[in-house]
Order: sequence, then structure tokens, then C-alpha cells
Amino acid sequence: MTDPTRLLWREAAQEQMHAATLAELRGRHGTDQVSFNYRWEHVTAVVALALRLAELTGADAETVEAAAWLHDVCKFSHGEQHPQAGAAFARDFLPTTDFPPDKIEAVAAAVADHMGLWRDEPLTVLESQVLWDADKLAKIGLTAVFHWTGGALAGHKMHTLERLIHRARANDWLPRTVASMHTPPARRAAAARLVAFQQLYAALERELTGDDLI
Ligand SMILES: [Fe+2]
Ligand SMILES: [Fe+2]
Repeated sequence: MTDPTRLLWREAAQEQMHAATLAELRGRHGTDQVSFNYRWEHVTAVVALALRLAELTGADAETVEAAAWLHDVCKFSHGEQHPQAGAAFARDFLPTTDFPPDKIEAVAAAVADHMGLWRDEPLTVLESQVLWDADKLAKIGLTAVFHWTGGALAGHKMHTLERLIHRARANDWLPRTVASMHTPPARRAAAARLVAFQQLYAALERELTGDDLI
């Protein structure tokens, strides 16, 4: 029987994450009233991708969904240490909800494992692989183009298209991220997303320089 005093885990996890994104906005911009909440967009994209990957790979959907909602909950507060801090958060927070207690450790492990834009050693646990792949897929492709552009324009700094293109091009780690994907569907999608990303910026540059005029 469900304990009525416990929070519904999905709504509660979303609330925690949303509050963390607002705190990040206030920390970065002095206000949470900005035009684009990059972190929230990122996390909701990761949740959707993690659930699709769970379906395709047989990973446990509840585990990867909870891990996806919480994986960056400590991103702004703990920086580089946020996977470990997020895992500790999950261990403390999920028992206050109706989330299945026997899956909490798997959630914490997946959150702790999501570090790094590429990996020399692949992860071995399916749920950790799915979260890692979903998180990195959201940083490649057209999603990244719009997320990064939206994030940059949400601040008070003046941007030029040239600067945005330069920043996107500086992400020379993307091929290594594609090569580090664990699950076959993510590996295929990552390769296609990288091509779309590169083609978009190449086409934009041709337009801006007039190289498309013949
Ligand atoms: Fe992260
Ligand atoms: Fe993330």
C-alpha cells in the first residue's frame, strides 16, 4: 500500500530540479526572470531521451527517469563534484517520496556515474550507461545549438553571431563524446546529431560570408 504521507516522486523530483535551476539563474544573472532557462531545458531533454533509451535497451525506466531528473540537481552548487553530490542528494531525498526503496541505490549510482564529456573506460551498468548517453546526446546536435544559443542570450552579455559560432566551434570534444556512447541507439543518433551540428554551422558561415553566392 502507498504511504499517503510520502510525496509523489516524479513531481517532487521535478520540483527539486526546477528550484535548483532557478537558484542557478539567480546565481548567474542576479535574477531568475530570464528569457531562457538552459538547465531546465537540458534536464527535460535528458529525461525524454533517457526514457526512450530505456524502452529501446531494456533499462529500468523508473531508475533512469529519477536519475535523469536529479542528475544535475547539484550542478551549480557543487560544480565538478556535482555527480557525487547529486548521488548523495538522491539517497537523502528519494526515501521521502514513494519511489521504490530498492531502486534508490541504482539511481544514486547512475547520477554519480554521469561525469565527463567523454569516457576512456565505458560504464558497465545499463542504467548508468543510459543516463550518460542521454545526458551527452542532449549536448550534441541541433538541441545543443538551440540550448547554447538560448543560454547565451539569456544573460546580459552582448553576443554577436560570430562569437556564438566561435563558441560552438570551440567544442572540439564532440567527436570523442560520440565515440564514448554506450548503447547502439545512442551511438547512431549521436553520429547523426554531430553531422547536423557541423552542417548547421557550416551553412550559417556560408550565409554570413556570402560563400553561398555563385
Ligand atoms: Fe551533469
Ligand atoms: Fe546534464
